[in-house]
Amino acid sequence: MTDDLRSLEAETAAAIAAAPDLRALEAVRIGVLGRNGSLTALLKALGAVPAEQRRERGAALNAAKAAIEAALEARRTELEAAALEARLAAERIDITLPPRPAAPGTAADGSIHPISRTMEELTAIFGAMGFTVAEGPDIESDWHNFGALNIPDHHPARQDHDTFYLPGPDGRRPVLRTHTSPVQIRTMLTQPPPIRVIVPGRTFRADHDATHSPMFHQVEGLVIGRDITLGHLKGCLIDFLRAFFGIRDLPVRFRSSYFPFTEPSMEVDIGWNRRSGELGAGGDWLEILGSGMVHPKVLANCGLDPREWQGFAFGMGIERITMLKHGIPDLRPFYESDVRWLAHTGSDPLSPASLHGGV
Ligand code: DAH
Repeated sequence: MTDDLRSLEAETAAAIAAAPDLRALEAVRIGVLGRNGSLTALLKALGAVPAEQRRERGAALNAAKAAIEAALEARRTELEAAALEARLAAERIDITLPPRPAAPGTAADGSIHPISRTMEELTAIFGAMGFTVAEGPDIESDWHNFGALNIPDHHPARQDHDTFYLPGPDGRRPVLRTHTSPVQIRTMLTQPPPIRVIVPGRTFRADHDATHSPMFHQVEGLVIGRDITLGHLKGCLIDFLRAFFGIRDLPVRFRSSYFPFTEPSMEVDIGWNRRSGELGAGGDWLEILGSGMVHPKVLANCGLDPREWQGFAFGMGIERITMLKHGIPDLRPFYESDVRWLAHTGSDPLSPASLHGGV
């Protein structure tokens, strides 16, 4: 190879390597291989080369051309990739929203309110026993809230409820439901038996102190079948209370009582130590919930034949069992939305209640 060709190849290789972008690279290509390019000129001059050297010279020129083309192609690929990278970097849009700064002393991720947490736990425990969740409206008819539940007008049980009445059409008086029991009626009217539901939800009574709020929560339970007995009621509630409070041998007592919508009716107590507040220990009893076998009149009010169907029902206050489980002495912070209290008392939003987690 002659010196002129060798230096042309070396200069071209250096120019290709130094080309900062595709446009510069194209300029190098034109300068060498274009119509007036330096290598093109050498190829054109081939005719003037003496015949005995022409062959060798031609082969050397072609080899140089091929090498330069390959180098151009390699650099082009490199520069194209770099250009794409640069474009991707320049056009990137940040679609994430910056997190809002947490208030001092609060959980940055938020936390689950203890009432919501208890509802999740109830759903997990009763769900494992085959219950589904039913719901009803906060504003109820007098009939669903009282009448159908065998609480007629002038029944003394009405006075106990401190009801919020609302103005209604045609002299009717809708109420803010005083308990979740009306959803028993709604469920039996819309769902053919057998029935197995729990009803967590808001309830309302005109009552306000450290352990009562005008708005509070209850959970109702209803089981209807052909052969449901008091034994089922007891087994179901004992299992529930032991799972919920996490005490395997929690003492549970069934004490006869009165509710208009059940016969027989029972109040359910758990063992505790009145002095220390410890659940499951000591010789004292603490009332937790009301229950009983669904009254035949209630079944009949819902179109079910009491000679064919029977079942049990129960109801309890969600705030009350939450306060007992977590040792919360006062009900009012539940509704004050103090984020410091919620961060302290709430639970991890990423660990939902589950039976195997021990609710
Ligand atoms: N509804 C009653 C209350 O609010 C609680 C209750 C007692 C519900 C006995 C029931 C039951 O389903 O069987 O005080």
